[in-house]
Amino acid sequence: MTEQRPVNEAAAKPAILPDAQTVTSVQHWTDRLFSFRTTRPASLRFRSGEFVMIGLMGDPDPKTGKQKPILRAYSIASPSWDDELEFYSIKVQDGPLTSKLQHIQPGDQVILRPKPVGTLVHDALLPGDRLWFFATGTGLAPFASLIRDPETYERFDKVILTHTCRDVAELEYGRRLVDHVKSDEMMRELTDGGVDKLVYYPTTTREQSPKMGRITDLLTSGEAFRDLGVDGITPETDRAMVCGSMGLNTDMKTILEGFGLEEGANSDPKHYVVEKAFVG
Ligand code: A2P
Repeated sequence: MTEQRPVNEAAAKPAILPDAQTVTSVQHWTDRLFSFRTTRPASLRFRSGEFVMIGLMGDPDPKTGKQKPILRAYSIASPSWDDELEFYSIKVQDGPLTSKLQHIQPGDQVILRPKPVGTLVHDALLPGDRLWFFATGTGLAPFASLIRDPETYERFDKVILTHTCRDVAELEYGRRLVDHVKSDEMMRELTDGGVDKLVYYPTTTREQSPKMGRITDLLTSGEAFRDLGVDGITPETDRAMVCGSMGLNTDMKTILEGFGLEEGANSDPKHYVVEKAFVG
């Protein structure tokens, strides 16, 4: 599955930036969120869930006229078998990078340092029966990759993706992706029907939707377990990956440790792993 097909570099503009890749498509989801796809460096191998540094050149220094790259860590939202790379980003109007990045168009170039790293990878978890992905906001990105990775369904009998956003429109990227993963013929073939194991649990906190509330509260009250027909979370059966704001990550750590789960790492796989979603 890690075999890589050739990238269509003929369509790319000549490289003017260091580690340049060409933007192939851009989609704006709300005034705060967008996703984009780029060409993939022919040599880039990564594990689903990892991140890379991407960015743009900054404005010239008023004194020296020199330009420095502005780079930030972005989870790769596409699966490791995809020809292209996909990213899911917030737009921060005064953010050093995203104030510019939100204006990219197909054919533009972005800088992409081809050194993938991260803890939201299968290697950092012990085998288990059920895998939980807990995301808020753009924390969905690593899971957008992992729910398209056949290994996810080879390793687990049930995969539960929870996504908490302020309003319904902010769920749209994830909702469409889950629909696609579950209905696409190629995804079914690739995962040998494994996509049927995927359960999606979207919640909103500020706009009315069928399921309201922070996932942390829904877990603590037991409501999420009742909704999902699950007895609870135990270190014997459950594994979890968490990606969101600092607040979510801290609160989820407390909740998961309360259930007896221990935090893992690439070098020391355990029951759950956490990574901060990119915010600026
Ligand atoms: P809330 O609306 O109650 O703050 P943001 O857009 O600010 O990144 O937030 C994304 C989602 O994450 C929002 O629905 C927000 O809920 C929720 N959220 C923020 N902090 C936490 C937390 N500590 N635990 C669970 N959800 C959180």
